[in-house]
Amino acid sequence: MIQLKENDKIFFGGGDMNISPELVEEKIEEMNETLLIYRSAIKEVKTKLDILDDELKIRRKRNPIEYMKSRVKTPGSIMDKLQRKGLEMSIYAAKKNLNDIAGIRVICSFVGDIYDIADMLKRQDDIKVIEEKDYIKNPKSNGYRSLHLVVEVPIFFSDHVESVRVEVQIRTIAMDFWASLEHKLYYKKSGETPIHITNDLKECADLIASTDIRMQDIHRKVDELRY
Ligand code: GTP
Ligand code: MG
Repeated sequence: MIQLKENDKIFFGGGDMNISPELVEEKIEEMNETLLIYRSAIKEVKTKLDILDDELKIRRKRNPIEYMKSRVKTPGSIMDKLQRKGLEMSIYAAKKNLNDIAGIRVICSFVGDIYDIADMLKRQDDIKVIEEKDYIKNPKSNGYRSLHLVVEVPIFFSDHVESVRVEVQIRTIAMDFWASLEHKLYYKKSGETPIHITNDLKECADLIASTDIRMQDIHRKVDELRY
């Protein structure tokens, strides 16, 4: 395993212009190894979620998970984030400070499914919950809703075990619809947004949230009808 040093200032060959080609190569190798670790963590957590989904399909005759998306942050976007946060540009700093190098988005059918899936994942012995943010009970001021978990999972390699953090965002189809479009609207746009646009978007988010509650209620009523 490559041990990253505290004072490792060079991230992926950047920073110091006088670095040797050998050092650049070494850094690229470190980066590839790091990304492998995060890809493996995604596989591990996704498999756990898949198993829960399969089990619930048998027990409840319904899949709580509609689908999942995952991604490992690119080196460029890792660097952007370190810079934005005023952190050292090193792989060491990225691993230490960034919780979302590995990210999984879990899209559920109903709001209740979000909490069921989150609780089942959190209860697993090899999962350590590092952070939990409930933007469903406490939506962001712009209307954003989702349940965010940062979990740590052990990954077994040939000669060592690593605890790796993965950010899991769990939301309904409706919440995902809003978040995806909101992100698209603002992506790489800077400057002030006029208040009427902010209000419009917030209103859409609230409408969607009340529809989610109604859908959950309809689901309950259908379940109660024994036909
Ligand atoms: P980071 O330092 O970026 O991790 O900040 P944080 O830990 O305070 O982030 P938080 O857990 O609040 O959000 C992390 C991720 O959630 C973001 O990278 C987005 O993917 C998503 N997210 C959070 N807020 C919004 C939002 O207002 N709109 C959309 N579309 N996505 C959001
Ligand atoms: Mg975060």
